[in-house]
Amino acid sequence: MANDKWANPQKMWDERFGRAEPVYGEQPNAYLRAQAHRLTPGGRVLVPGDGYGRNGIWLAREGFQVTTVDLSPIGVERARKSAQAAGLAMSIEEADLATWNWPLGEFDAVACIFLHLPPDLRPQIHGKMLAALKPSGVLIIEAFTPAQLQHSSGGPKQLELLYTAEILREDFAAADALELLEVDIDLDEGRMHRGRAAVVHGVFRKP
Ligand SMILES: C[S@@+](CC[C@H](N)C(=O)[O-])C[C@H]1O[C@@H](n2cnc3c(N)ncnc32)[C@H](O)[C@@H]1O
Repeated sequence: MANDKWANPQKMWDERFGRAEPVYGEQPNAYLRAQAHRLTPGGRVLVPGDGYGRNGIWLAREGFQVTTVDLSPIGVERARKSAQAAGLAMSIEEADLATWNWPLGEFDAVACIFLHLPPDLRPQIHGKMLAALKPSGVLIIEAFTPAQLQHSSGGPKQLELLYTAEILREDFAAADALELLEVDIDLDEGRMHRGRAAVVHGVFRKP
């Protein structure tokens, strides 16, 4: 991934989240919202890579106990300010998921939205997401697929950062796939996620 902004992710996300506009909008992710009926009301939800907090804040408003983790100090600061302004009690942590002290068996759900990890980290971090769930906990994931390279609606331009249903099936093989499919959707999430998009949708339940 030489000569590429993705080689220094913290710098890239800080630059993106330092802009006045919310680049992915203020609303929660549509897939997360559509799948939220599967979550235990009032349960503990982990949101890894929550950026400036749009999904975590929505979940907290919906009554969930939310923990978010992101490596962008600017995104985290923005999320904290939004949570404070909304009067929401949330745990908003600044950390790299590769070195974070992952809890074990504590969460009812994980909401992983457009968190594209490099292949040397991805399986290990996906494994930690499953390990962080309680038995019967649910993991919801949306990510761009390689077909997204034909679109200009956002996402990484490096093939190795894009996910397929097969990759997720392998990474989450220890869980039951309640839904797993590659689909074309119309994204409408702020200026950097807008238009026709190729994504993989997954919902997994830990046995
Ligand atoms: C495309 S943004 C998506 C943000 C958010 N999930 C959303 O949908 O609005 C990807 C996010 O993942 C975070 N991220 C990427 N790699 C990370 C890592 N190793 N540890 C923590 N956060 C990471 C970035 O800082 C960024 O906020």
